[in-house]
Amino acid sequence: MGKKIFSGVQPTGNLHLGNYLGAIKNFVDLNNDKENNCIFCVVDLHAITVGQIPDELRDNIRETVATFVASGIDPEKSIIFNQSQVSAHSEAAWILSCTARMGWLNRMTQFKEKAGKDKEKASIGLYSYPVLMAADILLYDTTHVPVGDDQKQHLELCRDIAEKFNKDFNSENFFKLPEPLIQKNYSRIMSLKDGTKKMSKSELSDLARINLTDENDQIINKVKKAKTDPLPMPSDIEELNKRPEARNLINIYTSLTNSSLEKSIKEFSGKNFSNFKENLAQTLIDKINPISTEIKKLLGDKSYLDKILLDGSLKAGDIASKKIKKIHEIVGF
Ligand code: AMP
Ligand code: TRP
Repeated sequence: MGKKIFSGVQPTGNLHLGNYLGAIKNFVDLNNDKENNCIFCVVDLHAITVGQIPDELRDNIRETVATFVASGIDPEKSIIFNQSQVSAHSEAAWILSCTARMGWLNRMTQFKEKAGKDKEKASIGLYSYPVLMAADILLYDTTHVPVGDDQKQHLELCRDIAEKFNKDFNSENFFKLPEPLIQKNYSRIMSLKDGTKKMSKSELSDLARINLTDENDQIINKVKKAKTDPLPMPSDIEELNKRPEARNLINIYTSLTNSSLEKSIKEFSGKNFSNFKENLAQTLIDKINPISTEIKKLLGDKSYLDKILLDGSLKAGDIASKKIKKIHEIVGF
């Protein structure tokens, strides 16, 4: 049987290679399988858990849709919409926040990372963010959620919330328990400047990430400047695992060429980094240039992007409103 897929990406700008290899590339494969029903959500409610500039947020919502479509998600086949347009998400998040326990949320590592030292000043939304994510997933009877491995803990929380709700209200199987779909080897793409830190939208130095809108010469420059170590290329996995920067770059190359780590290591073993980097830059350009060209083209047609979102929110709204109606009955409203 086909899968019911749901995933979300925050419209916070700077979509990068980590988002692509960790999530969006997987979305495209799932979209291409005729059996699946996929929903890809631009999670603008999640974005405002930290400060946003309204005009930039509006642009970033469109840019995220453009990136989905440019990467190969077909809006005729999959539902693409933005979360704020389907009010059931906010409503279900409130109801589920009465099921979720403080102790569960206190364990979330992403909150600790994002809130940093000054937890008292973080928004309540940033804290309860995983409950909203659970609402997103559970409203659509999702069976599988493709995400990067940083989201695994949130997905476990979603399952806990679903189980407790079903149990508390004697509604066995009402919420389906979703499975994560995590790309094993490439689940975490690291910064080009520090192989122990995740590639991220919020990293100040643009040299640390490859953006999906980067021009070819920017890609060449970033790969050239990517941190490496003074040794020649590693010759086996054990050695690779001890060298975070080399590991990250070989990982990226392997993922882009749909190869295996063993094969990539063999291809470059003992050579110097400059030869490998030339290959890597070209492989990146071959992949990213068509996407970035298409993103720019799509951004010129705002009404087309808005129409995708409107159509998508009507379809998603149809499904979600039925589920929220049942939630009302179960809860006793
Ligand atoms: P976000 O940009 O935080 O909304 O993330 C969107 C998707 O990209 C999520 O599925 C993340 O798990 C994934 N993702 C973000 N950064 C990385 C990274 N450096 N490596 C792999 N996946 C990532
Ligand atoms: N929290 C996810 C992230 O930051 C985005 C997200 C929101 C999501 N809702 C979701 C992912 C539902 C999967 C399913 O990357």
